[in-house]
Amino acid sequence: MEEDEEELPKVEFSAFAQALAERIRKNGAITLAEYMDACIPEYYATRNPFGKEGDFTTSPEVSQMFGELIGAWIADLWFQMGSPPKAQIVELGPGNGTLCADLMRALGNWPECRAAMTVHLVENSEGMRRKQAEVLKEYSPAWYDRFEDVPPGTVFLVANEFIDALPIRQYVRKGKKWFEKMVTFNEEKGEFEYVLREEPVELTPPKGYPKPIERDVLEINDLGRAVVENVAKRIRDHGGAALFIDYGLIKPNYGDTMQSYKRHKRVDALRNPGGQDVTADVDFSALVAAAEPYAKVHGPIVQGAFLNALGIDQRAEAICQTATPAQRGLTRLAVRKLTNATDMGAKFKVLGLTMKGADIKPAGFADGDDVSHN
Ligand SMILES: C[S@@+](CC[C@H](N)C(=O)[O-])C[C@H]1O[C@@H](n2cnc3c(N)ncnc32)[C@H](O)[C@@H]1O
Repeated sequence: MEEDEEELPKVEFSAFAQALAERIRKNGAITLAEYMDACIPEYYATRNPFGKEGDFTTSPEVSQMFGELIGAWIADLWFQMGSPPKAQIVELGPGNGTLCADLMRALGNWPECRAAMTVHLVENSEGMRRKQAEVLKEYSPAWYDRFEDVPPGTVFLVANEFIDALPIRQYVRKGKKWFEKMVTFNEEKGEFEYVLREEPVELTPPKGYPKPIERDVLEINDLGRAVVENVAKRIRDHGGAALFIDYGLIKPNYGDTMQSYKRHKRVDALRNPGGQDVTADVDFSALVAAAEPYAKVHGPIVQGAFLNALGIDQRAEAICQTATPAQRGLTRLAVRKLTNATDMGAKFKVLGLTMKGADIKPAGFADGDDVSHN
């Protein structure tokens, strides 16, 4: 997701938002995680947010090259791992199914690899599942609510813009204490707004965070860490590899990053509950810490470096050979959007996981990019 913040006129609250206000009236303020947990499924259930006409554009929606290069990344690892006869393509939060469709089509270049794969999708929105069923029907995918439900086996897992959609909690530094930020409903103004819990919480910022100062905001994505830890354990036990791609910071730092996008503009995250996406930047250092005890960690590196190393320019030139002049222009524009430092190329980071102790070199990451000591 990209673009800058904008103030929009007040909205008329939906039945969903009114029910949320009622829940707060009855039970009191809710955590940011509870707010995101309630709003995100409602948002995906009631609209298709992707593309020009939607609220935001993700990398697979920018160009087929994104998914194709990830397909080639997976095939290369599958061969390096000795061509296991059965393996699972797992995607977390597949959206429109575009990334999975592009990577599966690319796997068709290596028919024995393609034949070894079954497709497994972790998706909690019924509306999105219906869309994925249409786009991916030739691969007969299976759906799950949570990664833990995916049957045991070697996994090649991809999660693009998934961790940012998982609920976070925020804590604000006041004096020498941390106070949790909550969402309440202001009856006078008729608006949802933030309040701090009166009681402080006992909290030590995770390793790597600077010493906190007044008003610092600490964000914790417990579910994101748990998912990455479980994926790393799966790779330890059954082999395979994973890619987590998202916007966020490589080095941990404080900051309020909860955000919403409406028609490609950043807007107040409490403005229209359930009617707009709510996400937060990913703290990649927390994901590395969650994975490192169980899997070999590669990166995180910026998306531009990853796609360049995988050969996005060569793929673009191959597409351009048989394209119309207009398609050639769009293909080159897509390369710039996905890789330029001023665009998605630096904002998005890529974290890779493989099995510890295995003699495997995932493409796209240089040796010095490995943060793991194993
Ligand atoms: C921003 S979209 C990313 C879509 C796709 N990966 C892409 O790059 O175009 C987030 C996806 O994650 C799904 N999702 C969000 N929270 C989820 C959760 N807790 N469990 C499973 N799926 C979730 C959404 O329904 C949606 O399909």
